[in-house]
Amino acid sequence: MKALVLAGGSGVRLRPFTYSTPKALIPLANKPALEYVVAHLRELGARDICLVVGDWADTISEAMGDGSRFGVRLTYLRQERPLGLAHAVRTARPFLRDDDFLLHLGDNVFPDGAASIVEEYRRTRPATGLVVQQVADPRAYGVAEVAADGAVLRVVEKPAQPRTDLAVLGLYYLTAAVHEAIGAIAPSLRGELEITDAIQWLIDRGHTVEARRYSGFWKDIGRSDDVLACNRRLLDDLVPAVDGHIDAASEIRGPVVVEPGARVVRSHVHGPAIIGAGTLIEDCLIGPGTSVGRDCTVRATHLSDSIVLQGAQVHTPRGLYGSLVGRYATVGPAEPDEPAHRLVVGDHARVEIIAA
Ligand code: TTP
Repeated sequence: MKALVLAGGSGVRLRPFTYSTPKALIPLANKPALEYVVAHLRELGARDICLVVGDWADTISEAMGDGSRFGVRLTYLRQERPLGLAHAVRTARPFLRDDDFLLHLGDNVFPDGAASIVEEYRRTRPATGLVVQQVADPRAYGVAEVAADGAVLRVVEKPAQPRTDLAVLGLYYLTAAVHEAIGAIAPSLRGELEITDAIQWLIDRGHTVEARRYSGFWKDIGRSDDVLACNRRLLDDLVPAVDGHIDAASEIRGPVVVEPGARVVRSHVHGPAIIGAGTLIEDCLIGPGTSVGRDCTVRATHLSDSIVLQGAQVHTPRGLYGSLVGRYATVGPAEPDEPAHRLVVGDHARVEIIAA
Protein backbone atom coordinates (compact mmCIF):
# COMPACT_ATOMS: atom_id res chain seq x y z
CA MET A 1 0.00 0.00 0.00
CA LYS A 2 1.11 3.57 -0.67
CA ALA A 3 1.55 6.14 2.07
CA LEU A 4 2.21 9.83 2.16
CA VAL A 5 4.06 11.48 5.03
CA LEU A 6 3.81 15.24 5.43
CA ALA A 7 7.13 16.54 6.69
CA GLY A 8 7.05 20.07 5.28
CA GLY A 9 5.48 22.87 7.31
CA SER A 10 7.25 25.58 9.25
CA GLY A 11 7.14 24.31 12.85
CA VAL A 12 6.64 27.79 14.30
CA ARG A 13 5.37 26.46 17.64
CA LEU A 14 8.52 24.42 18.14
CA ARG A 15 10.95 27.30 17.80
CA PRO A 16 13.82 27.72 18.48
CA PHE A 17 14.50 24.04 17.67
CA THR A 18 12.94 24.34 14.23
CA TYR A 19 15.39 27.11 13.31
CA SER A 20 18.06 24.47 12.98
CA THR A 21 16.16 21.17 12.65
CA PRO A 22 12.97 20.18 10.87
CA LYS A 23 10.28 19.19 13.37
CA ALA A 24 10.09 15.71 11.88
CA LEU A 25 13.73 15.04 12.81
CA ILE A 26 13.41 16.07 16.46
CA PRO A 27 14.85 13.12 18.42
CA LEU A 28 12.52 11.13 20.66
CA ALA A 29 14.36 8.57 22.78
CA ASN A 30 17.36 9.51 20.58
CA LYS A 31 15.68 8.62 17.27
CA PRO A 32 14.18 11.13 14.83
CA ALA A 33 10.37 11.36 15.02
CA LEU A 34 10.16 10.38 11.34
CA GLU A 35 11.68 6.98 12.07
CA TYR A 36 8.70 6.18 14.30
CA VAL A 37 6.33 7.38 11.57
CA VAL A 38 7.95 5.23 8.89
CA ALA A 39 8.06 2.20 11.22
CA HIS A 40 4.36 2.72 11.99
CA LEU A 41 3.47 2.87 8.31
CA ARG A 42 5.44 -0.28 7.63
CA GLU A 43 3.52 -2.02 10.41
CA LEU A 44 0.29 -0.82 8.75
CA GLY A 45 1.33 -2.51 5.50
CA ALA A 46 2.77 0.45 3.56
CA ARG A 47 5.99 -0.23 1.65
CA ASP A 48 5.92 2.57 -0.90
CA ILE A 49 6.17 5.82 1.06
CA CYS A 50 6.48 9.36 -0.24
CA LEU A 51 7.69 12.13 2.03
CA VAL A 52 6.48 15.62 1.23
CA VAL A 53 9.22 17.97 2.36
CA GLY A 54 9.74 21.72 2.38
CA ASP A 55 12.82 23.87 2.97
CA TRP A 56 14.51 21.06 4.91
CA ALA A 57 14.33 18.68 1.95
CA ASP A 58 18.07 17.85 1.86
CA THR A 59 18.42 17.43 5.63
CA ILE A 60 15.46 15.04 5.72
CA SER A 61 16.51 12.96 2.74
CA GLU A 62 20.06 12.68 4.09
CA ALA A 63 18.73 11.48 7.45
CA MET A 64 16.17 9.01 6.08
CA GLY A 65 17.82 7.80 2.86
CA ASP A 66 16.04 5.53 0.39
CA GLY A 67 14.20 3.61 3.10
CA SER A 68 16.13 0.35 2.77
CA ARG A 69 17.21 0.71 6.40
CA PHE A 70 13.52 0.57 7.39
CA GLY A 71 12.40 -2.08 4.90
CA VAL A 72 10.41 0.37 2.75
CA ARG A 73 10.93 2.48 -0.37
CA LEU A 74 11.12 6.19 0.37
CA THR A 75 10.71 8.89 -2.25
CA TYR A 76 10.68 12.64 -1.73
CA LEU A 77 8.59 15.42 -3.20
CA ARG A 78 9.16 19.09 -2.60
CA GLN A 79 6.30 21.34 -1.53
CA GLU A 80 7.42 24.83 -2.50
CA ARG A 81 5.58 26.51 0.38
CA PRO A 82 3.59 25.18 3.36
CA LEU A 83 0.19 25.97 1.91
CA GLY A 84 -1.73 23.36 3.87
CA LEU A 85 -2.17 19.61 4.27
CA ALA A 86 -4.50 19.34 1.27
CA HIS A 87 -2.00 21.31 -0.80
CA ALA A 88 0.69 18.82 0.21
CA VAL A 89 -1.55 15.95 -0.93
CA ARG A 90 -2.07 17.76 -4.24
CA THR A 91 1.71 18.10 -4.59
CA ALA A 92 2.00 14.33 -4.27
CA ARG A 93 -0.59 13.46 -6.91
CA PRO A 94 2.04 12.17 -9.38
CA PHE A 95 3.12 9.63 -6.75
CA LEU A 96 -0.39 8.73 -5.57
CA ARG A 97 -2.14 8.52 -8.95
CA ASP A 98 -5.60 7.06 -8.25
CA ASP A 99 -4.55 4.59 -5.57
CA ASP A 100 -5.88 4.36 -2.03
CA PHE A 101 -3.26 5.60 0.42
CA LEU A 102 -2.50 6.33 4.05
CA LEU A 103 -1.76 9.92 4.94
CA HIS A 104 0.44 10.26 8.04
CA LEU A 105 1.51 13.59 9.49
CA GLY A 106 5.27 13.65 10.05
CA ASP A 107 4.88 15.05 13.55
CA ASN A 108 2.32 12.51 14.83
CA VAL A 109 3.43 9.47 16.77
CA PHE A 110 1.31 6.37 17.54
CA PRO A 111 3.53 4.08 19.67
CA ASP A 112 0.65 1.62 20.19
CA GLY A 113 -0.06 1.37 16.46
CA ALA A 114 -3.40 1.78 14.69
CA ALA A 115 -3.29 -1.53 12.81
CA SER A 116 -6.80 -2.78 13.60
CA ILE A 117 -8.40 0.47 12.43
CA VAL A 118 -6.41 0.58 9.20
CA GLU A 119 -7.08 -3.10 8.47
CA GLU A 120 -10.79 -2.43 8.69
CA TYR A 121 -10.54 0.57 6.34
CA ARG A 122 -8.52 -1.47 3.86
CA ARG A 123 -11.26 -4.08 3.88
CA THR A 124 -14.26 -1.73 3.65
CA ARG A 125 -12.68 1.10 1.61
CA PRO A 126 -14.65 4.16 2.72
CA ALA A 127 -13.92 7.29 0.62
CA THR A 128 -12.15 8.57 3.74
CA GLY A 129 -11.39 6.86 7.04
CA LEU A 130 -10.48 9.02 10.02
CA VAL A 131 -8.82 8.10 13.30
CA VAL A 132 -10.21 10.10 16.22
CA GLN A 133 -9.59 10.44 19.94
CA GLN A 134 -11.19 12.38 22.75
CA VAL A 135 -9.00 15.29 23.84
CA ALA A 136 -9.29 17.77 26.69
CA ASP A 137 -9.11 20.86 24.47
CA PRO A 138 -10.19 20.16 20.88
CA ARG A 139 -9.76 23.75 19.70
CA ALA A 140 -6.24 23.07 18.40
CA TYR A 141 -7.37 20.21 16.12
CA GLY A 142 -9.69 19.20 13.35
CA VAL A 143 -12.86 18.22 15.22
CA ALA A 144 -15.30 15.51 14.07
CA GLU A 145 -19.00 14.99 14.71
CA VAL A 146 -19.57 11.28 14.46
CA ALA A 147 -22.84 9.27 14.41
CA ALA A 148 -23.25 6.14 16.53
CA ASP A 149 -22.39 3.91 13.53
CA GLY A 150 -19.11 5.74 12.90
CA ALA A 151 -20.34 7.88 9.98
CA VAL A 152 -18.78 11.34 10.09
CA LEU A 153 -21.40 14.08 9.92
CA ARG A 154 -19.08 17.07 10.03
CA VAL A 155 -15.42 18.01 10.37
CA VAL A 156 -14.27 21.50 11.32
CA GLU A 157 -10.67 22.74 11.50
CA LYS A 158 -9.65 24.30 14.83
CA PRO A 159 -13.14 25.50 15.84
CA ALA A 160 -13.37 28.24 18.47
CA GLN A 161 -16.44 26.48 19.87
CA PRO A 162 -16.05 22.75 19.22
CA ARG A 163 -19.28 20.74 19.06
CA THR A 164 -17.51 17.56 20.20
CA ASP A 165 -14.26 16.63 21.90
CA LEU A 166 -13.18 14.22 19.14
CA ALA A 167 -9.92 15.33 17.58
CA VAL A 168 -8.99 14.09 14.11
CA LEU A 169 -5.55 12.46 14.51
CA GLY A 170 -2.76 12.63 11.95
CA LEU A 171 -3.48 9.33 10.20
CA TYR A 172 -6.04 9.12 7.40
CA TYR A 173 -7.16 6.42 5.01
CA LEU A 174 -7.84 8.18 1.71
CA THR A 175 -9.02 7.18 -1.73
CA ALA A 176 -8.78 8.94 -5.09
CA ALA A 177 -12.03 10.79 -4.30
CA VAL A 178 -9.98 13.19 -2.18
CA HIS A 179 -8.24 14.63 -5.26
CA GLU A 180 -11.51 15.88 -6.74
CA ALA A 181 -12.36 17.40 -3.36
CA ILE A 182 -8.98 19.15 -3.11
CA GLY A 183 -9.48 20.53 -6.60
CA ALA A 184 -12.82 21.99 -5.55
CA ILE A 185 -12.03 23.71 -2.24
CA ALA A 186 -10.61 27.20 -1.68
CA PRO A 187 -7.94 28.23 0.86
CA SER A 188 -9.20 28.87 4.39
CA LEU A 189 -9.02 32.20 6.20
CA ARG A 190 -5.47 31.34 7.34
CA GLY A 191 -4.52 30.86 3.68
CA GLU A 192 -4.14 27.06 3.73
CA LEU A 193 -5.84 24.34 1.72
CA GLU A 194 -7.29 22.35 4.61
CA ILE A 195 -7.65 18.59 4.47
CA THR A 196 -10.71 18.95 6.75
CA ASP A 197 -12.38 21.16 4.11
CA ALA A 198 -11.70 18.51 1.46
CA ILE A 199 -13.21 15.84 3.72
CA GLN A 200 -16.25 18.03 4.45
CA TRP A 201 -16.67 18.45 0.69
CA LEU A 202 -16.84 14.66 0.38
CA ILE A 203 -19.38 14.40 3.23
CA ASP A 204 -21.55 17.07 1.60
CA ARG A 205 -21.62 15.05 -1.61
CA GLY A 206 -22.68 11.82 0.07
CA HIS A 207 -19.34 9.98 0.07
CA THR A 208 -18.75 7.57 2.93
CA VAL A 209 -16.52 9.21 5.51
CA GLU A 210 -16.01 7.18 8.65
CA ALA A 211 -14.25 7.58 11.97
CA ARG A 212 -12.87 4.99 14.36
CA ARG A 213 -11.76 5.76 17.89
CA TYR A 214 -8.13 5.08 18.70
CA SER A 215 -7.57 4.25 22.35
CA GLY A 216 -3.76 3.98 22.35
CA PHE A 217 -1.20 6.67 23.07
CA TRP A 218 -0.98 9.37 20.45
CA LYS A 219 0.94 12.62 20.36
CA ASP A 220 1.30 15.48 17.94
CA ILE A 221 4.75 16.88 18.78
CA GLY A 222 3.77 20.43 17.85
CA ARG A 223 5.03 22.05 21.08
CA SER A 224 7.94 21.36 23.42
CA ASP A 225 5.74 19.90 26.17
CA ASP A 226 4.32 17.44 23.64
CA VAL A 227 7.85 16.45 22.63
CA LEU A 228 8.70 15.72 26.27
CA ALA A 229 5.50 13.73 26.82
CA CYS A 230 6.14 11.71 23.69
CA ASN A 231 9.76 11.12 24.67
CA ARG A 232 8.59 9.80 28.05
CA ARG A 233 6.20 7.37 26.40
CA LEU A 234 8.73 6.12 23.86
CA LEU A 235 11.35 5.57 26.55
CA ASP A 236 8.91 3.10 28.13
CA ASP A 237 9.43 0.85 25.09
CA LEU A 238 13.22 0.82 25.44
CA VAL A 239 14.95 -2.52 25.37
CA PRO A 240 17.67 -2.05 28.01
CA ALA A 241 21.22 -2.30 26.69
CA VAL A 242 24.45 -1.11 28.20
CA ASP A 243 27.12 -0.79 25.52
CA GLY A 244 28.99 2.11 27.10
CA HIS A 245 31.10 2.10 30.25
CA ILE A 246 29.62 2.28 33.75
CA ASP A 247 32.19 2.73 36.54
CA ALA A 248 32.05 0.81 39.82
CA ALA A 249 30.74 3.85 41.71
CA SER A 250 27.66 4.18 39.47
CA GLU A 251 24.27 2.56 39.66
CA ILE A 252 21.85 1.78 36.85
CA ARG A 253 18.24 1.06 37.74
CA GLY A 254 15.24 0.31 35.52
CA PRO A 255 15.26 0.23 31.71
CA VAL A 256 18.32 2.14 30.58
CA VAL A 257 20.19 2.28 27.30
CA VAL A 258 23.82 3.43 27.41
CA GLU A 259 25.02 3.70 23.84
CA PRO A 260 28.52 2.71 22.71
CA GLY A 261 31.29 5.03 23.83
CA ALA A 262 29.19 6.69 26.54
CA ARG A 263 30.67 6.87 30.05
CA VAL A 264 28.76 6.96 33.32
CA VAL A 265 30.98 8.03 36.23
CA ARG A 266 29.95 8.25 39.92
CA SER A 267 26.33 8.61 38.85
CA HIS A 268 22.89 7.10 39.31
CA VAL A 269 20.79 6.51 36.22
CA HIS A 270 17.18 5.60 36.93
CA GLY A 271 15.32 4.54 33.80
CA PRO A 272 13.57 4.70 31.58
CA ALA A 273 16.43 6.74 30.20
CA ILE A 274 18.86 6.74 27.30
CA ILE A 275 22.42 8.04 27.22
CA GLY A 276 23.77 8.75 23.74
CA ALA A 277 27.02 7.53 22.18
CA GLY A 278 30.15 9.34 23.30
CA THR A 279 28.40 11.21 26.13
CA LEU A 280 29.92 11.71 29.58
CA ILE A 281 27.66 11.58 32.65
CA GLU A 282 29.64 12.47 35.78
CA ASP A 283 28.47 12.93 39.40
CA CYS A 284 24.86 13.03 38.28
CA LEU A 285 21.45 11.71 39.10
CA ILE A 286 19.69 11.02 35.84
CA GLY A 287 16.00 10.38 36.49
CA PRO A 288 13.22 8.71 34.50
CA GLY A 289 12.03 10.20 31.23
CA THR A 290 15.44 11.51 30.21
CA SER A 291 17.13 11.25 26.83
CA VAL A 292 20.66 12.56 26.46
CA GLY A 293 21.90 12.71 22.88
CA ARG A 294 25.35 11.90 21.55
CA ASP A 295 28.57 13.64 22.55
CA CYS A 296 27.10 15.58 25.48
CA THR A 297 28.75 16.37 28.81
CA VAL A 298 26.48 16.30 31.84
CA ARG A 299 28.21 17.03 35.16
CA ALA A 300 27.23 17.35 38.82
CA THR A 301 23.53 17.80 38.25
CA HIS A 302 20.11 16.18 38.50
CA LEU A 303 18.29 15.67 35.26
CA SER A 304 14.85 14.18 34.89
CA ASP A 305 12.01 14.18 32.38
CA SER A 306 14.20 16.06 29.91
CA ILE A 307 15.82 15.91 26.50
CA VAL A 308 19.39 17.05 25.96
CA LEU A 309 20.39 17.15 22.32
CA GLN A 310 23.67 16.32 20.66
CA GLY A 311 26.82 18.05 21.89
CA ALA A 312 25.14 20.00 24.71
CA GLN A 313 26.86 20.64 28.05
CA VAL A 314 24.84 20.69 31.24
CA HIS A 315 26.29 21.50 34.64
CA THR A 316 23.64 23.05 36.86
CA PRO A 317 23.87 22.48 40.61
CA ARG A 318 20.09 22.87 41.05
CA GLY A 319 19.29 20.35 38.33
CA LEU A 320 16.78 20.42 35.51
CA TYR A 321 13.46 18.74 34.91
CA GLY A 322 10.95 19.05 32.08
CA SER A 323 13.64 20.72 29.99
CA LEU A 324 14.70 20.62 26.36
CA VAL A 325 18.30 21.64 25.74
CA GLY A 326 19.27 22.26 22.12
CA ARG A 327 22.29 21.03 20.21
CA TYR A 328 25.66 22.33 21.45
CA ALA A 329 23.89 24.52 24.03
CA THR A 330 25.59 25.15 27.37
CA VAL A 331 23.70 25.34 30.65
CA GLY A 332 26.18 25.99 33.43
CA PRO A 333 26.80 27.62 36.80
CA ALA A 334 27.59 31.30 37.19
CA GLU A 335 31.03 32.49 38.33
CA PRO A 336 31.10 32.96 42.15
CA ASP A 337 30.93 36.78 42.01
CA GLU A 338 28.24 37.13 39.35
CA PRO A 339 25.47 39.41 40.70
CA ALA A 340 22.68 37.71 38.74
CA HIS A 341 21.94 35.03 36.16
CA ARG A 342 23.70 35.45 32.83
CA LEU A 343 21.96 34.22 29.72
CA VAL A 344 22.74 34.00 26.06
CA VAL A 345 19.36 32.86 24.81
CA GLY A 346 18.44 32.28 21.18
CA ASP A 347 15.36 33.66 19.44
CA HIS A 348 12.05 32.32 20.74
CA ALA A 349 13.76 30.37 23.53
CA ARG A 350 12.02 30.00 26.89
CA VAL A 351 13.80 30.14 30.24
CA GLU A 352 12.04 29.60 33.60
CA ILE A 353 14.07 30.60 36.64
CA ILE A 354 13.11 29.76 40.23
CA ALA A 355 12.51 32.91 42.23
CA ALA A 356 14.44 31.94 45.37
P1 TTP B 1 1.22 21.62 11.37
O1 TTP B 1 1.65 21.17 12.73
O2 TTP B 1 -0.19 21.97 11.19
O3 TTP B 1 2.10 22.84 10.90
P2 TTP B 1 3.64 23.11 11.10
O4 TTP B 1 4.41 21.83 11.11
O5 TTP B 1 4.03 24.10 10.08
O6 TTP B 1 3.78 23.69 12.58
P3 TTP B 1 3.35 25.13 13.18
O7 TTP B 1 1.85 25.16 13.13
O8 TTP B 1 3.90 25.10 14.57
O9 TTP B 1 4.01 26.17 12.32
O10 TTP B 1 1.58 20.49 10.30
C1 TTP B 1 1.31 19.13 10.52
C2 TTP B 1 2.29 18.30 9.72
O11 TTP B 1 2.11 18.51 8.32
C3 TTP B 1 3.73 18.62 10.01
O12 TTP B 1 4.46 17.41 10.02
C4 TTP B 1 4.17 19.48 8.86
C5 TTP B 1 3.29 19.03 7.71
N1 TTP B 1 2.90 20.07 6.77
C6 TTP B 1 3.28 19.96 5.44
O13 TTP B 1 4.00 19.02 5.06
N2 TTP B 1 2.88 20.92 4.55
C7 TTP B 1 2.09 21.97 4.94
O14 TTP B 1 1.73 22.80 4.08
C8 TTP B 1 1.70 22.06 6.32
C9 TTP B 1 0.86 23.19 6.79
C10 TTP B 1 2.13 21.08 7.20
